[in-house]
Amino acid sequence: MGSNVAIIGTGYVGLTTGACLAHLGHTVVCADVVPEKVAALNAGEVPILEAGLDELVREGVKSGQLSFVLGAENAVADAEFVYLCVPTPQGGDGAADLSYIEQAAHQISAHLQPEAVVINKSTVPVGSTRVVERALGRSDIAVVSNPEFLREGSAVHDFLNPDRVVIGADDQAAAIRVAGLYLGLAAPLQVTDPASAETIKYASNAFLATKISFVNAIAAVCEAVGADVNDVVLGMGYDKRIGNAFLRPGPGWGGSCFPKDSHALVKIAEDAGYDFGLLRGVIDVNREQFERVADKIEKMAGGSLEGRTVALWGLTFKARTDDLRDSPSIEIAGVLKSRGARVVGFDPSSPSAHDSRLAGIEVVDDPYAAATGAAVLAVLTEWDEFKWLDFDKVAEVMDAPRVVDARNLLDRSALVRRGFAYDGIGRH
Ligand code: UGA
Repeated sequence: MGSNVAIIGTGYVGLTTGACLAHLGHTVVCADVVPEKVAALNAGEVPILEAGLDELVREGVKSGQLSFVLGAENAVADAEFVYLCVPTPQGGDGAADLSYIEQAAHQISAHLQPEAVVINKSTVPVGSTRVVERALGRSDIAVVSNPEFLREGSAVHDFLNPDRVVIGADDQAAAIRVAGLYLGLAAPLQVTDPASAETIKYASNAFLATKISFVNAIAAVCEAVGADVNDVVLGMGYDKRIGNAFLRPGPGWGGSCFPKDSHALVKIAEDAGYDFGLLRGVIDVNREQFERVADKIEKMAGGSLEGRTVALWGLTFKARTDDLRDSPSIEIAGVLKSRGARVVGFDPSSPSAHDSRLAGIEVVDDPYAAATGAAVLAVLTEWDEFKWLDFDKVAEVMDAPRVVDARNLLDRSALVRRGFAYDGIGRH
């Protein structure tokens, strides 16, 4: 039988969690602070691009299993479980800012049913379970850490097919109750203490970021020694101890999680008296990667970007999302601009040209329009549709046919046959 669940915050994590729990048979009320968003969601309209989420939200709203209300205090009256899914942005010192979490806890405290369980799904520093307990100030309410491992773009799939469910709780009975919410998902369940659960989340993201920085560093070595990183990764990945996931070289990692969480873990370690030099190195390699891609573009343009046009295909932090947060494309555009380039960008997710994060980039809604008059075309995200564009047409509209393929996405030999100068990442 389903449980009554409240979700505080309808960002990527909250909305995916709410819609998926409703799909699993629970009755879910989600709260947000933006009235227009609440109204749109109750009408089944999803404001973000996330595969399969529209269908689940519409299904839930139609069946009555899923509804949306304004204000956290209005969502929790019947809830046996309350998920906190509010943002934990990076504060000035690199540490995660917990003010939204504390505020949400204060807001719901007086309205919670006796014995309700509050579940922390936001990524929070180790020890935050205690912070929430203090903010709630209710001895009958157990607070449990239940980190999420959802990738934007495949969040619904990841929720319904998890590699593991991690529950961190001091109160074993509360942990077992939370585990009951996930019955029906075939995944290993790990029950541990709150600090370990919180650390699992940071360690997982930091390890994945490390893999990517490592492969980007290996790509630089490949360029220097005349090896091909695609072949190197293939050969490494056959080793089951290494695996082939998260070893795609690229323009550097970005998004709303890796940058924020890697800095937060460096800070958590520092506060605990450990200098996490390895992770600082991972962050440095990533920053250098933005410069390396800009260097490639500059070199391809003949050594100077002053007054030259560069076309960017892909503005979001990866393909199949419309999320621009901490996007490597925007970082690289900034470097190109500082070197005197005019930057024109196209993205299949159709971002608004007025989005302040894209200031300085001329955003157009057609890939050929972006390439028109460009000295260099740079492919910065791995949208499949880029592969199938008409490259004869691209060559025709460009200043000269030159491409920097920062995702090793395109068919290099086909482009070279068409007369393109081509440079990828880690390929000679
Ligand atoms: C990441 C984690 O993968 C999730 O498990 C986690 O739950 C989530 O953060 C979070 O903390 O909420 P996400 O930020 O959606 O998910 O994006 P990823 O698919 O992990 O990609 C992160 C960045 O790494 C992107 O810029 C992507 O282009 C880059 N990347 C990824 C590579 O350059 N190479 C790869 O092989 C994989």
